[in-house]
Amino acid sequence: MERLTTTYLGLELKNPIIVGSSPLTASLDNLKKCEDAGAGAVVVKSIFEEQIDHDAKLMISESEGYVVHADGQDFLEDASRNYYIDAYLSLVEKATDALDIPVIASVNCRTQGTWLDYVSRFAEVGADALELNYFVLPSDFKRTAEEMETEFIALVETARRRFPLPLSIKMGSQFTALANIVGQLDKIGVDGLVLFNRFYQPNIDIEKIATKASIVLSSPHEYTLPLQWTALLSAYLNCDICASTGIHSGETLIKMLLSGAKAVQVCSAIMKNGHPVITEMLNTLTTWMDRHHAQTFVDFRGKLAHKRTKDPSQWERAQYMKSLNVEF
Ligand SMILES: Cc1cc2nc3c(=O)[nH]c(=O)nc-3n(C[C@H](O)[C@H](O)[C@H](O)COP(=O)(O)O)c2cc1C
Repeated sequence: MERLTTTYLGLELKNPIIVGSSPLTASLDNLKKCEDAGAGAVVVKSIFEEQIDHDAKLMISESEGYVVHADGQDFLEDASRNYYIDAYLSLVEKATDALDIPVIASVNCRTQGTWLDYVSRFAEVGADALELNYFVLPSDFKRTAEEMETEFIALVETARRRFPLPLSIKMGSQFTALANIVGQLDKIGVDGLVLFNRFYQPNIDIEKIATKASIVLSSPHEYTLPLQWTALLSAYLNCDICASTGIHSGETLIKMLLSGAKAVQVCSAIMKNGHPVITEMLNTLTTWMDRHHAQTFVDFRGKLAHKRTKDPSQWERAQYMKSLNVEF
């Protein structure tokens, strides 16, 4: 399957399907299953900045007598933090030893917190790259978009300075000036952008009159937002785009590549249908390449990106100009 080789973040991938950060990549056994199923790379389940801080605080609150001493509090905070980080780094190290495909570590971060002090350790344990999953809910009435974006950019700048290997940013789509933010990230020198993360969203159970979780897995219809933005941005950036969310079929994979993605991330489709979906998607891709006389990816990747397509305005349409001629 050499014709499926692609590069992403400067890494050589035997094919463009990356298993995204999720329970599918949370243990060594699960990571191996992804490799055995034919994935081109894996992103390890994220370590959460909040989780580390929360656990440190919990440990401290349960040790009240001890933490009357400031030194005791420092010790417990460090011990707790190190416990989770060490466990995570050990998983990454074992995965890089055991797997032949690239292993990308992942941090879920919101602030320029202590996690940035240990960011270089991901490289030391052999991670091929680091993906930062960044999101802050913009629900604070007092905070402006500019403040929040400045903070985001500063965080990425620090991570870029401190992390010596390829760095990618997994982000949401909710920015007023998305192209501008992406352009700033590109200038900072990030190697890749994952467009887009799919966030947990609360829902309501009307019988219990209580909140509940929304459906956790994506549906196959959700791919059009990352498709549009991959097409709009890909050909104007130095960094790579990895499309994510709603990629459930080989057909959708092909659309992402045509719009300029270097690779895609898949989670829900595997969680719903099992690991064989990876091979099915790759088979659909090769059959399509045969049909269109494409020897390799390069023959068609980004052909329909905004910059290259004959009618770029198609990617800019946001309003429905004509009404459907259907009786409702
Ligand atoms: C149960 C579950 C856990 C996830 N955990 C993480 C995580 O730890 N870090 C992360 O960056 N994304 C996480 N994600 C998001 C996925 O990596 C992915 O971006 C999202 O599910 C959209 O892709 P999909 O449509 O292929 O599922 C998780 C998704 C699911 C369903």
